[in-house]
Amino acid sequence: MSATADGVVTAATAASELVERDPARVRPPRALDEVVVLDYGGQYSQLIARRVRECGVFSELLPHHLGAAEIARRKPKGLILSGGPASVYAPQAPRLESELLDLGVPVLGICYGMQLLAFELGGRVEAAEVGEFGRSELTVREPGRLLAGLPAEQTCWMSHRDTVLAPPPGFAALASSSESPVAALEDTERNVYGIQFHPEVVHTPYGQDILRRFLIDVCGCDTSWSPASIVDEQIERIRAQVADGRVICGLSGGVDSSVAALLVHRAVGDQLTCVFVDHGLMRKNEGQQVIHAFRDTFKVPLVAVDAEERFLARLRGVTDPETKRKAIGEEFIRVFEEEAGKLSGGTAAVRYLVQGTLYSDVIESGGGTGAATIKSHHNVGGLPQDLQFELVEPLRTLFKDEVRAVGAELGLPERLVWRQPFPGPGLAIRVVGGEATRERLDLLRDADHILQEEIRKAGLYRELWQSFCVLPDVRTVGVQGDERTYGNVVVIRAVTSDDAMTADWARLPYDLLETIASRMINELREVNRVVLDITSKPPGTIEWE
Ligand code: XMP
Repeated sequence: MSATADGVVTAATAASELVERDPARVRPPRALDEVVVLDYGGQYSQLIARRVRECGVFSELLPHHLGAAEIARRKPKGLILSGGPASVYAPQAPRLESELLDLGVPVLGICYGMQLLAFELGGRVEAAEVGEFGRSELTVREPGRLLAGLPAEQTCWMSHRDTVLAPPPGFAALASSSESPVAALEDTERNVYGIQFHPEVVHTPYGQDILRRFLIDVCGCDTSWSPASIVDEQIERIRAQVADGRVICGLSGGVDSSVAALLVHRAVGDQLTCVFVDHGLMRKNEGQQVIHAFRDTFKVPLVAVDAEERFLARLRGVTDPETKRKAIGEEFIRVFEEEAGKLSGGTAAVRYLVQGTLYSDVIESGGGTGAATIKSHHNVGGLPQDLQFELVEPLRTLFKDEVRAVGAELGLPERLVWRQPFPGPGLAIRVVGGEATRERLDLLRDADHILQEEIRKAGLYRELWQSFCVLPDVRTVGVQGDERTYGNVVVIRAVTSDDAMTADWARLPYDLLETIASRMINELREVNRVVLDITSKPPGTIEWE
């Protein structure tokens, strides 16, 4: 399942399930070229689709068993077969549907995708004793069409065990590496291409050039797609879906819900009402910023619910992290339902609910089944599935960075566009080991404000996935102005990450850490010690609770 880190309501669905249920729900913007990436289970499959989009060609990742007929219906300009963990010799290995080669569009196989093509078309593929993992030197022997104009010697990133020893009849072997006698191949007659290495990762410096060659020279794609090009398309679609119905959107202040709300407002104006539940667990001034941007700048009808007292009451006496998360989640749903009820009690019932579901939520497959619950993220800040609304999901085809581009295009303030992820249960899960009282939350909010100010001033805010403070229930002894103190410890947590699945602690400059620590101790009387969390994820998680 998906975690949207800014508390946006999501409905993650496996790609296959989604397409089977309703193939039309995720589809390319009209009249733009599309290249389909078929997912054979590779670690980097999503990244291939992103790289293709970066070349200006719309791309989606679809399950490999989708079926040639469905793919043909989408009229793609090309097909890419992704990598995957299987060996072509394994009994359960995904097979190549031969009709895919009859669609009349160029096909590029990457890693497992290439092995599959080679195997099915009569080449020699062998399960090797040693694999080839990591950086490799590629020697281009014959550039052919795919590698034309690229250096004869280049670095590439490999991750495979099976190896193609001889290309199928009619194919030319283009390149090799130390462990792969055939590291690239092509048959320009049949329009079938393959590379053993991963062009989508940054460790293959010419990877993007190779993709571009495939997309432009081989497939003849027009490269005018950009995230902003979905704006008009989506506005039209929202209008068609909603007609004159009433729409509600739970605004969290995160970029996903903000951009989704703005798009819907552009489409249907005041038929939309946003509900912003201020649970009193936000960072300093953040609630006001959201209210100001939406109500005053964008003139979006907004119900701002000051629910701080209710949430604090629910949190009284609660110290266990899971109980805390559940309490906040339940309270959030209750408040939202009450507001939705009030709105529906007015002129006409609210029929539609805006969700900031992203493309990564859509394609994230299955997930969760049998997996241990580390933290109950998805119940927090999310809404139950049985709410009686029809969903409006205008970001369903976009990746996070593309949502930011759309946000900027719509004029969303820079602060909201680039806001670091913030958990649904807010600061409550950063007051750890003790009760999240108003006093503790206020102290944490002030410490966090100093951290944010200094990180921004140092120009590091965008580089960090997240930067925040944690307030443990610990007092330590100190000495200030010749007097003994017994005060609070503030923990600085700053991490770099691509997707929050793994994270590394950020190496913040010493000078910056010193400024932050001395400001906290000087400006916050209750604080007499500042420490730095240097745990990566795994083994730690990003949040402390
Ligand atoms: P952890 O602590 O599991 O967090 O490493 C991973 C990412 O998820 C965010 N997070 C949440 N986001 N609701 C959310 O929307 C939640 O309940 C929640 N808990 C954690 C966290 O900030 C990090 O970005």
